[in-house]
Amino acid sequence: YGDYDFIVVSNRLPVDRVTGEGGGNSWRRSPGGLVTALAPVMAKTEGAWIGWHGAADEVLKPFDHDNMRLVPVELSADDVELYYEGFSNATLWPLYHDVIAPPEFHRTWWEVYKAVNRRFAEATAESAAEGATVWVQDYQLQLVPKLLRELRPDLKIGFFNHIPFPPLEIFAQLPWRRQVIEGLLGADLVGFQRPSDSSNFLRCVRRFSGHTIKSQHVNIRTDDGDRICRAGAFPISIDVDQINQLAKSPEVIERARQIREELGNPKTVLLGVDRLDYTKGIQHRIKAYGELLEDGRVTVEDAALIQVASPSRERVESYRLLREEIEGAVGRINGTYDTLSNTAIRYLHHSYPKEEMVALYLAADVMLVTALRDGMNLVAKEYVASRTGVNGALVLSEFAGAADHLKQAILVNPHDIDGLKDAIMRAVEIAPGESTRRMRVMRRQILQNDVEQWSQSFLRALDGETLGKTAGS
Ligand code: G6P
Repeated sequence: YGDYDFIVVSNRLPVDRVTGEGGGNSWRRSPGGLVTALAPVMAKTEGAWIGWHGAADEVLKPFDHDNMRLVPVELSADDVELYYEGFSNATLWPLYHDVIAPPEFHRTWWEVYKAVNRRFAEATAESAAEGATVWVQDYQLQLVPKLLRELRPDLKIGFFNHIPFPPLEIFAQLPWRRQVIEGLLGADLVGFQRPSDSSNFLRCVRRFSGHTIKSQHVNIRTDDGDRICRAGAFPISIDVDQINQLAKSPEVIERARQIREELGNPKTVLLGVDRLDYTKGIQHRIKAYGELLEDGRVTVEDAALIQVASPSRERVESYRLLREEIEGAVGRINGTYDTLSNTAIRYLHHSYPKEEMVALYLAADVMLVTALRDGMNLVAKEYVASRTGVNGALVLSEFAGAADHLKQAILVNPHDIDGLKDAIMRAVEIAPGESTRRMRVMRRQILQNDVEQWSQSFLRALDGETLGKTAGS
């Protein structure tokens, strides 16, 4: 047995490497909410995080950071190409996001996905103390629960899928559908963002495994007796305090003012913030905005659109094609409508620190979230948490999980370009009283459900599940 009572397993470790001026390396906590939610649990228990450190062909020893033990898993250049870029991001990612891009099915990718999942399971089995709790994260590691249970039946295993789980009719395309379902069923509790993801999963379990299901419990028969795997929805949220504090800090407020000034103080600042990903509907948003300029419903003097598109998965072909498409569209629109002093769309292919992101949220009157499919979308929640002035309008796709919680947003179907144009204009022209009324309700929702509550409710459910099982067996 290993030493750790609580282990998180995810494809990436929650740190980014920073190279100092002298060329030396150090680590910085990555901006994601997941680590913020779990760091306190890690500090309280004897906790470790297992994941890839982001560079191919590099072997690193376990190290401590932020009161956490970080255990790097090595990926070779081939693993990165076949497991990460291939099976995770060119098979599962498009398949689980409504096949917006066509998923590719390659047997060589699957073989490497299995092998890498086994490596993560082995590293976890070595680190976990007897009876430890292990929480596996996301679609890159769906086989880990079963592999880990085979190695260590004493562990309590949870799994959370951050992205959608597709309907049976789509999932059925996957040649290895049965193995993926069995992989997930190795967990005691499988968590999803939305109730619909959880019911999609249970339909797939019913179809592709021989197990019986009673409400949300899957009864798994094994030679050593029965066990239960439970499924449910645990919608993730953001670190509300962090965003709130940044939104109130004088530096960030000053930066927001500067941003508006740099844009020439237009009447309306619109903002989009996404990873450059085809699931985010960036093309649809830009098309709609271009048509609004063409129709004269917005002008470059009165309105400025900032689109942050942070670089992502740049070696995967569909991401490269998307970048060309978006940059072509932005170039055409700017070429047509810009003047010497005004730009229609400020397109920024960068990632920014949280401080700058919150300054952008504060500077924006209208936030555009037009995902074609999104597990949750935390940008929408961060925008709401940033709006300490209780104003601003959120245009939000009904295909993002966040739409379950932000019903006062201006909800859109981003495929309907005319509907999207009207929604953008409603947001641009919204009366101050109405934007405040809507924002107040949304803020109440977000402020009451932060990411720490999310992790606690998942871990409590995982705990209860195992207690229930022990009591009943
Ligand atoms: C999504 C996934 C995460 C992933 C992140 C960034 O949010 O759910 O698992 O880490 O995108 O993508 P990347 O491929 O750079 O890790």
